[in-house]
Amino acid sequence: MLKTSLDIQKIRRDFPILNREVNGKPLVYLDNAATSQTPQQVIDVIVDYYHGYNANIHRGVHTLSQEATDKYEEARIKIQKHFNASRAHEIIFTSGTTHGINLIANGFSSLIKKGDEVLVSAMEHHSNIVPWQMLCERTGAELKVIPMNEQGELLMDVYGDLLSDRTKLVFCNHISNALGTINPIEEIIEKAHNMGAAVLIDGAQAAPHLIADMQKLDVDFYTVSAHKMCGPTGVGIVYGKEEWLRKLPPYQGGGEMIAEVTFEKTTYADLPHKFEAGTPNICGGIAFGAALDYMNKIGFDAIAGYEQELLEYATSELLKIEGLKIYGTAQKKTSVISFNIEGIHPYDIGTILDKLGIAVRTGHHCAQPIMDFYKIPGTVRASFAFYNTKEEVDQLVEGVQRARNMLL
Ligand code: ALA
Repeated sequence: MLKTSLDIQKIRRDFPILNREVNGKPLVYLDNAATSQTPQQVIDVIVDYYHGYNANIHRGVHTLSQEATDKYEEARIKIQKHFNASRAHEIIFTSGTTHGINLIANGFSSLIKKGDEVLVSAMEHHSNIVPWQMLCERTGAELKVIPMNEQGELLMDVYGDLLSDRTKLVFCNHISNALGTINPIEEIIEKAHNMGAAVLIDGAQAAPHLIADMQKLDVDFYTVSAHKMCGPTGVGIVYGKEEWLRKLPPYQGGGEMIAEVTFEKTTYADLPHKFEAGTPNICGGIAFGAALDYMNKIGFDAIAGYEQELLEYATSELLKIEGLKIYGTAQKKTSVISFNIEGIHPYDIGTILDKLGIAVRTGHHCAQPIMDFYKIPGTVRASFAFYNTKEEVDQLVEGVQRARNMLL
C-alpha cells in the first residue's frame, strides 16, 4: 500500500474516461506527459459554456458577450494568482506551449543580432529548440548547448563557462518530458541574469506536478499548456515580465490586438491584447481556469507526494525485469519513466501494451537530441498522474514482462 492521504478511488470517479475499456481490457492510462485526462468538473464547464453563454469576447455590448468576457478574464486572473505573476496582463493566452515559445522567439528577432549567443539545454523538446534555431537563422546569432550527463542532469559548471556577455537568452525546460529530470532553474535563471541574459522556461511538464512562482523565480518567460493539467487541448499561456512584453513586438496581426487601424498606420492595443490577435479559445481559457481550481482543490503538495511514491514503486518494480534500462535517473525527477529492454524495439513493447489496454508513449518523444545522446531510436515512456494507482503500475510491469517473453 502507498501511504498517500488522497482518496484515489474517489478522484478516479471524477474522470469518466478511466471507466472505458481498450481492446477488451480496462484502460490503464500512463501517457499523462503527452496529455492528461479531463475531470467531469472541467467537462461541465465546457458544456455550460456552449449551453449557456457562447459568444465572442471583448467586442459585444450584448449580455452573452459580456458574460463570456467576464469568465475569460476571471480565468486569466485565476492563472495569474496560481503562478503568482504580479499582474494579470503578464499572462498571455496562447494555443499552448509551442505557440508561447514561438511568440517570444519571434519577438526577439529585432533584439538579437549577429555575434550574440543563445543557450539551450541538451534535454529540450523540439518546441524549445526549433523556434530558437529559426531565430538564429534570421539574425545570425549562435545557438550553444548546455550538455548533460548519463543520468540526464545538466552540467551546471559547463553552463557557467558557456555564459558570457555575448549570451542574450537562455532556454530550458523546468522538467524534461523524455527523462523526467527536474532542472535547477533557480540557479539557471540567477546565473543568466548575472550576465544580463533573459531566460525562458518551458513549464509544460512541470505545471501538472508543482506550482512555479513567477515572482520568486524572477523568470522572464514561462510557458504552460492546459491539456497537461486536466484542461482541454488548444489553450495555454505564456507568462512574460511586463517590461519584456512591452519591449517585444506583436507576434500576429489581426483583430483584437490593435488600438487604431488606418491604411497609413496601425497602433497596437495594450497588454495583454497586443499578443492576442483573433478570436481566442474562449471556452478553453475558461476551462483552463476550472482545471486549476480542480487541481488546487486536491492540492499540489499531495499530488507531488503521491506521484513520487508511484515513481519510486514503478522504478523498483520495472528494474526487476531482466535487460530493462531506465533513461533519466536524475536525483530530482518527476513521475516519468523512459525505458527500453535490450534487443527489443520500443514500438513493439508499446504495441503489446496497447493490446493489454495500457497506454504509454513510444518513440523519440519530440526530443531527438536526447535519443542521439543515448544512441537509441527511442524509448517506451510511462508517465503517471495523481489518478493512477499502484495496481496500474503492477499491470504495467506484468505487461512489459509479457512483452519481453513474447519478443525475445
Ligand atoms: N510533449 C508531449 C509529450 O512529451 C506531447 O508527449
